[in-house]
Amino acid sequence: MTHAPFVPELSTIQSASLEKPASMEDVFGGNEVGPVPNPFPVYDMLREHRPAMPVQGMAYSGYLLTRYDDVKAALKNHEVFSNRGNAKHIGLVFGRTIQEMDGKEHIKHRKIVSPALAPRALQKNFAGAAKAIADELIDKFADKGDAELVQEFTFGYPLRVFMKIIGLPEKDLETVHKTAADLTKIGVDPMKGLQAAQELTTYLTPIVEARRSNPSDDLLSRLVTAEVDGDQLSVDEVVSFAKLLVLAGAETTYHLIGTVLLALLAHPEQLAEVTKNRELVVPALDEALRWDSPVQIVCRETVSPIELAGVKMEADTSVLVVCGAANRDPAMFKDPEVFDIHRNTKDHIAFGSGQHFCAGSRVAYLEAEIALNSLLDRLPNLRPGSDMGQVVGMSFRGPTRVPVQFG
Ligand code: HEM
Repeated sequence: MTHAPFVPELSTIQSASLEKPASMEDVFGGNEVGPVPNPFPVYDMLREHRPAMPVQGMAYSGYLLTRYDDVKAALKNHEVFSNRGNAKHIGLVFGRTIQEMDGKEHIKHRKIVSPALAPRALQKNFAGAAKAIADELIDKFADKGDAELVQEFTFGYPLRVFMKIIGLPEKDLETVHKTAADLTKIGVDPMKGLQAAQELTTYLTPIVEARRSNPSDDLLSRLVTAEVDGDQLSVDEVVSFAKLLVLAGAETTYHLIGTVLLALLAHPEQLAEVTKNRELVVPALDEALRWDSPVQIVCRETVSPIELAGVKMEADTSVLVVCGAANRDPAMFKDPEVFDIHRNTKDHIAFGSGQHFCAGSRVAYLEAEIALNSLLDRLPNLRPGSDMGQVVGMSFRGPTRVPVQFG
C-alpha cells in the first residue's frame, strides 16, 4: 500500500554507468503506472555489481538496495534506518501516518491499528462477507464461459470488501475507487494526486466525526474510539490512516490476486494441483508474493552514518529498499525466476520486515485466499484466454489483464 513510496517506474539501467552515481532519469523512466514490465534483469545487474546503487535526482538522492541480506538488515535496523523520509512523499498525500513514524510514536499507533486490523476484529464474519462479495462478482460472468478477471473481478473485489469492513456506504464505491486510483498517479501527475487526496479527506472527515460521536461496529469506529495509554487518535489522524487503508485496500490485494492468477495460468500443472488440493492456495499466494511482489520498493532515511553493502552512507541519506529485488536474490532463493508453489517459503519480504511489517497482511492473505478459492470453485477447467496481460508497475505492481476461459 502506499506503504510504497511513489517512485517513478524503473526502466532500464543499461544506459546508466554502474561506476558512478546515475541520475534518476538513467535508472528510472516511464511513470508511476507506465509499462516497464520487467525490472528483474536490472535488479540482477544491480545485485551483482552495485548492491548499493547511488542515485541522484529531484525526488530521490541516495541508494538503491537490492540484495536480500542488505534489504533485511536495513528494514530491521530501526535505530539507523528511519521511516521519517516517507513524510516527503507518502505524507504529502496521507498526512501523518504510521508509515512515517519511528520509535515510541510508531509503537503506540501500531498498538491501536494492529488489533483493529485483525480479521476477527474487522467483522464477526469477515470471511462470510468476503465470500459473498466474491460470489456476487463471479455471478455476473459465470455463465459466459470467458471473462477478463482484472476488470470483472480483481479490480473491484478488495475495495468492495474493504468498504464494508471499514464502514463506508456501498453507494460511494465508484467514487472512492476512482479517487484511490487518481491518488496512485501522484508520481506522474502531482496535481491530480494531491487533489484526490484532498477529496478523500473531505469525504472521510464528516464520516469519522460521526463515528466519534456515535460509534458502531466497524473499523472506523474502532479506530476513533481505541485508547492506548489513555490517548485516542484524533479525527485527523484517523482520516489520514483511513486514506492509507483505502489505498491499501484498493491497490495491493488486487494486484496479488491478479499476479497469482496470471502465474498459475502460465503454469497449468500447478494450477491443476492447486485446484485439486486447496491446501496449496496459501503456498501459491506466498510464491506469487515472492515472485512478483505487489509492492516492490519501500523507503528509509539514515539518521546516523552506517556502512552497508560496502558503502559508507552519511546521516540523512535516502535509501530505496527494493523488496522485489531481494525476493529474487539467488543467494536466498534457488532459481528465483522460477514460479514454484512447492518452494514453500515464508522468507519472502513482500510485506516488509521489522517494526513496519505490513499491518494488513492477515487481511490480505484471507481476502486473496477467499478470492482464489471462489474462482477455482466456480470456474471449472480454468484456462488462459487470448491476449494475456503483463505484470507492470513499481509502487503498485500487478497484471494489466487476466483474460480467461472456463467450463
Ligand atoms: C498483498 C497485499 C499487500 C502487500 C504486498 C503489502 C505490503 C506492505 C509493505 C511492504 C509494507 C511495509 C512498508 C515499510 O516497511 O515501510 C506494508 C505496510 C503496511 N500495510 Fe501493507 N501490504 C498489503 C496489503 C495491505 C492491506 C490489505 C492493508 C490494510 C488492511 C495494509 C496495511 C498496511 C499498513 C497500515 C502498513 C504500515 C505499517 C507500519 O508502518 O507500521 N496492507 N505493507
